[in-house]
Amino acid sequence: MRTTVGIIGAGPAGLLLARLLHNAGIDSVVLESRDRSYVERRQRAGILEQGTVDVLREAGAGERMDREGLRHDGIELRFDRRRHRVDFPALTGGRSVMVYAQTEVCKDLIALQLKEGGPLLFEAEALAVEGAETDRPRIRFRHQGAEDVLECDYVVGCDGFWGVARAAVPDGRTFERTYPFGWLGILADVAPSHDELVYARHDRGFALLSMRSPSVSRLYLQVPADTDADDWSDERIWDELERRFETDDDWTLRRGPLTQKSVTPMRSYVHEPMRHGRLFLAGDAAHIVPPTGAKGLNLAVGDVVTLARALVHRTATGSDELIDAYSATCLRRVWQAERFSYDMTTLLHTAPDATPFENRLQVARLERITSSRAAETDLAEAYTGFPIG
Ligand code: APR
Ligand code: PHB
Repeated sequence: MRTTVGIIGAGPAGLLLARLLHNAGIDSVVLESRDRSYVERRQRAGILEQGTVDVLREAGAGERMDREGLRHDGIELRFDRRRHRVDFPALTGGRSVMVYAQTEVCKDLIALQLKEGGPLLFEAEALAVEGAETDRPRIRFRHQGAEDVLECDYVVGCDGFWGVARAAVPDGRTFERTYPFGWLGILADVAPSHDELVYARHDRGFALLSMRSPSVSRLYLQVPADTDADDWSDERIWDELERRFETDDDWTLRRGPLTQKSVTPMRSYVHEPMRHGRLFLAGDAAHIVPPTGAKGLNLAVGDVVTLARALVHRTATGSDELIDAYSATCLRRVWQAERFSYDMTTLLHTAPDATPFENRLQVARLERITSSRAAETDLAEAYTGFPIG
């Protein structure tokens, strides 16, 4: 098998890259180790920055998003039983975000790829990337019980944190931080209790109210990192959510039947550089953020937009200048998202070893954001997104 761009992984990064290349007349093959329904059901964050929304629309993948996605003009910060709304358009000159689940972004891109794009092989597991420093890099993979080789001009590792591509970038540096807590996430068949996301800091731990649709709620609780989701009965989850969201006004939490329950670990991670010869890393394969800032998918989109531009530029002009700039261009934006995600995480979560001084300081940081337009604008700008490129 031969192609121009061999893409490992059909998460948001790999699928969008294939779409952008197809639109520019560059052929690609996508290899995905899992099956289609697994990829379409994996629950992750669902907040699209304005820039991500624009990219999906321009790529011709925004039709259902525009019909079913929910535009959000703000979030609520909740602490000390008080509520504070951050108004995005007022603070950022009109920017907002879109609530549209990652599962739906993936479904839309998979349907387009299968209809119009190049090959997308499910249950095709990449085993190794070889010859990244040559003109003919290869992906060795296993599909339908047999081993095969995909020969490429370029290989892109969009294979997430646990993929194989990163191992083929030698002499890299990694920067990492793990957190002593995770998120217990639930999906519930009940209308969201608030029309915007609520980020709550509480002495018992962080809680987040989000949503998937007008009738499906997505909620999270900070829990210790080694938590087994089965130790949390539905009633215990609702009781704990209720305590962490409590306010002095008459706000109430609506309860409903749970349809999913799982624990996600929290990590900050960056691998530098994001390129070795003709192998590129994009999305979670190169960097992870804790979900508190909802940046993971948006970073992946920035990477593949930058890479698609570089490959199109190379095809049109024969120049490698954008390809050579790829890693540094992406990493500037990646580190801003790392910083913001870290800030949001340490602002809102109670660390098990935190001193009373540090806990009190969190409240002071929140009070600063809610009383200074400059501090609030800083949050709103970061949340609605940093420019790509
Ligand atoms: N061969 C083929 N596919 C692989 C391999 C492999 N060896 N290893 C992993 N994959 C696939 C995974 O099954 C997954 O579908 O690569 C895909 C990686 O997708 P994501 O983990 O979603 O990563 P990415 O596309 O970078 O997404 C970035 O979206 O999924 C979220 O948490 C993620 O928010 C982040 C953003
Ligand atoms: C989600 O809806 O899953 C979600 C939203 C915002 C976050 C993280 C997750 O910061």
